[in-house]
Amino acid sequence: MSAPAKRSVTITLDGSNRSTSLPLLSGSVGPDVFDIRKLYGDLGVFTYDPGYGATASCDSKITYIDGDEGILLYRGYPIEQLAEKSNFLEVCYLLLNGELPNAAEAAEFHDGVMRHTMLHEQLRTFYNGFRRDAHPMAVMCGVVGALSAFYHDSLDIHDVESRRISAFRLVAKLPTIAAWAHKYAVGQPFVYPRNDLTYAENFLYMFHAVPAEEYKVNPILSKAMDLIMILHADHEQNASTSTVRLAGSTGANPFACIAAGIASLWGPAHGGANEAVLKMLAEIGSVDNIKEFLADVKDKDNHTKLMGFGHRVYKNYDPRAKIIQKACHDVLEELGIKGDPLLDLAMELEKIALSDPYFIERKLYPNVDFYSGIILKAMGFPTSMFTALFAVSRTVGWVSQWKEMMEDPQQRIGRPRQIYTGAPQRDYVPPARRG
Ligand code: ACO
Repeated sequence: MSAPAKRSVTITLDGSNRSTSLPLLSGSVGPDVFDIRKLYGDLGVFTYDPGYGATASCDSKITYIDGDEGILLYRGYPIEQLAEKSNFLEVCYLLLNGELPNAAEAAEFHDGVMRHTMLHEQLRTFYNGFRRDAHPMAVMCGVVGALSAFYHDSLDIHDVESRRISAFRLVAKLPTIAAWAHKYAVGQPFVYPRNDLTYAENFLYMFHAVPAEEYKVNPILSKAMDLIMILHADHEQNASTSTVRLAGSTGANPFACIAAGIASLWGPAHGGANEAVLKMLAEIGSVDNIKEFLADVKDKDNHTKLMGFGHRVYKNYDPRAKIIQKACHDVLEELGIKGDPLLDLAMELEKIALSDPYFIERKLYPNVDFYSGIILKAMGFPTSMFTALFAVSRTVGWVSQWKEMMEDPQQRIGRPRQIYTGAPQRDYVPPARRG
């Protein structure tokens, strides 16, 4: 809960004698917020905030971002420290439970998650309903939504144990669902999970292995995969997380809520940006074309965006982008990929954009997606899988946020208001009398 108000703001409606005093609430860190809940009751007016850029929609203890300073904390721990010292399942435990696990808790959590990696066998047949060239995100929306038709025993959202099992199921099954979306697209047999592997290793195994030969997980790839998953695990009240919370606020089951989050993540302004960055780099083609491309970006009539740049909250370098940029160099070097033309192009594009007044004035910096596509490509993932991988990593954040909301006594259905600008009430006109 936020701290009780010590200060308030008084608002007086011009031209009337109506005024109200609104409490100013404080979190543990970050700017204070005005509690506007009684504004309509006292003054008969709502607030207007398209895109919710100035609105705090909930109390949360999970993730904190200071966008001006470029700081990202999961449960108080800096992303840089977690990226260097932790592992993805430990971060999952932290996000879901609030504290880092001790050795026994970590082992129990690992078993709890990994015991749920298989899919109900009937779910296999779902894949056959899709075209082979279906986008993996389309498959993910469908199959994740369908989980609610298979796991009826964990759908009671008011039961703590049901919520715990659903959380395990979602975190455990998303890698299997995503890996199988890829296998279906390329016409290879589905590879069943192996619970003796780590979470990241198991995903790489299901994605790359074929029954015809032994597959050994490359430790460089599994380390990079684990890092990418940590960096994408949560990001406070972004579009997809807010979608999950909004769907959950109606009492919808967690599988349906996460399917809604996946749909929201798909867009190029959000998680779809990693795929869009690679398409953009391919279109630019060479360092020589950067100036011309950036001229298009700056031309307001052109509607071209520099994908992987800009963020609603970060007005500084996205700390995840810094980590992933370094990882990108390390992985390419460790894999023996020398002078990757895409990376060279991306770095030159970044350098030119960061010294251009258009981007400086608007505080536009690279976000996590600017480099994630390059590293994922080097790791052997097709471009169409990039956003699906983001969804796999973000599932734990969505589930943590959904769980926190369900445990919040203040929780009520999410229901924004509007300024209506359409026709006022009027009478129906019969067809013969319409102009
Ligand atoms: N390229 C060019 N101009 C940009 C970019 C960009 N990538 N991003 C913002 N701008 C411009 C806007 O046109 C606007 O200019 P104006 O003031 O002259 O009108 C100004 O910068 C402010 O931008 P907004 O659109 O108000 O920023 P908003 O917070 O609404 O959008 C967003 C944030 C969606 C991320 C935007 O920066 C964008 O589209 N970036 C490219 C897509 C992308 O990389 N998305 C991934 C985000 S991170 C993630 O979801 C994991």
